Amino acid sequence: MRKIDIAVIPGDGIGREVVPESLRILDLLSEIHGGFKFEKKLYPYSCDYYEEHGKMMPDDGFQQLSQHDAIFLGAIGDPKRVPDHIALWQTVIGLRREFQQVINLRPVKSLKGITSPLRGDKNFDFIVVRENSEGEYSQVGGTIHQDNDEIAIQTNVFTRKATEGVIDFAFQLANDRNHKLTSATKSNGLYHSMPFWNRVFTETEAKYEDIETELIHIDALSAFFVTKPESFDVIVASNLFGDILSDLGGAIMGSIGIAPSANINLNGKYPSMFEPVHGSAPDIYGKNIANPIGQLWTAKLMLEHFGYEEIGNLLLNTIEELLVDNVKTPDLGGNYGTTEFIDALFEKLKKQ
Ligand code: NAI
Ligand code: MG
Repeated sequence: MRKIDIAVIPGDGIGREVVPESLRILDLLSEIHGGFKFEKKLYPYSCDYYEEHGKMMPDDGFQQLSQHDAIFLGAIGDPKRVPDHIALWQTVIGLRREFQQVINLRPVKSLKGITSPLRGDKNFDFIVVRENSEGEYSQVGGTIHQDNDEIAIQTNVFTRKATEGVIDFAFQLANDRNHKLTSATKSNGLYHSMPFWNRVFTETEAKYEDIETELIHIDALSAFFVTKPESFDVIVASNLFGDILSDLGGAIMGSIGIAPSANINLNGKYPSMFEPVHGSAPDIYGKNIANPIGQLWTAKLMLEHFGYEEIGNLLLNTIEELLVDNVKTPDLGGNYGTTEFIDALFEKLKKQ
């Protein structure tokens, strides 16, 4: 029996509702599969922890987390108690950087039983691969002078290493999926960075056979998310472009409560981290109405990461069956609570 050692950080708000519920399902899935088991260690890092200790994590927090095979995170943040930039930089954002999680993966798929805000019955299933460590989100630059003379300079940083890394990863993923890769570019407007990005893309393409590729400017690509999302398979994008595209992807799926993400460490030195796209939703915390699908789909990504794709697919397919039967939380127009949804999923999985 393979043991997978994960650090669990429920965090704040609805993270504390959807994480424990998702762990119940993960345990059941490992029972059904029989070949692996998650060993879980719970970490209380959150705004409560901050109020008690004056920081979001102890000084050796990163060191402790680095010992695990992966991190399963809910959401961090309670802006009424701790300023968001402190809460998030000391945890989520700090972890992504410290653990060199250079790639962010965000699947976008029309789930059966959910009506997309897009008109017509669109059927789409693609994944956004976002560079997660540099690009437009750099701290290079500064401001000088004041008043009318004030100048702000923000420099984009594109290294060959990270650019090749993310593009190569996307080609491999396209190779494992439906052999189509779209690259988000803007080489008509961004004079240096995007022509470089395109060049690395073309060089990498030469290593792969049978992958249909396209380079699309980010403005047109955003429009295509709305008009023809069914045309995509894998999309690779820089940090800023990927950020915007993946939120748009979340929106066309029908609820922020269902979107998952994975932050992947490629060099094997640190754990990867799995977290839903949504935040801690203080407005609905404590009401047992949070949609757990984002956290569950995130668990599916973690299962895939460790090689258990089939059991991950079983999870998502079973969720879709429930949605078709109108077993839904209020954000999707249903009347199931978080716990009731999980109970129904548990029973349905047990019958598989
Ligand atoms: P949010 O995603 O927490 O909530 C936005 C809206 O979506 C709210 O109306 C909320 O009720 C709803 N919502 C979110 N998840 C839902 C779910 N699973 N089921 C049903 N409805 C759901 O974003 P917001 O309000 O901007 O941020 C709240 C806190 O979360 C802030 O402190 C923010 O910094 C933090 N945050 C943390 C993230 C992380 O830990 N990775 C990511 C995004 C925000
Ligand atoms: Mg975003």
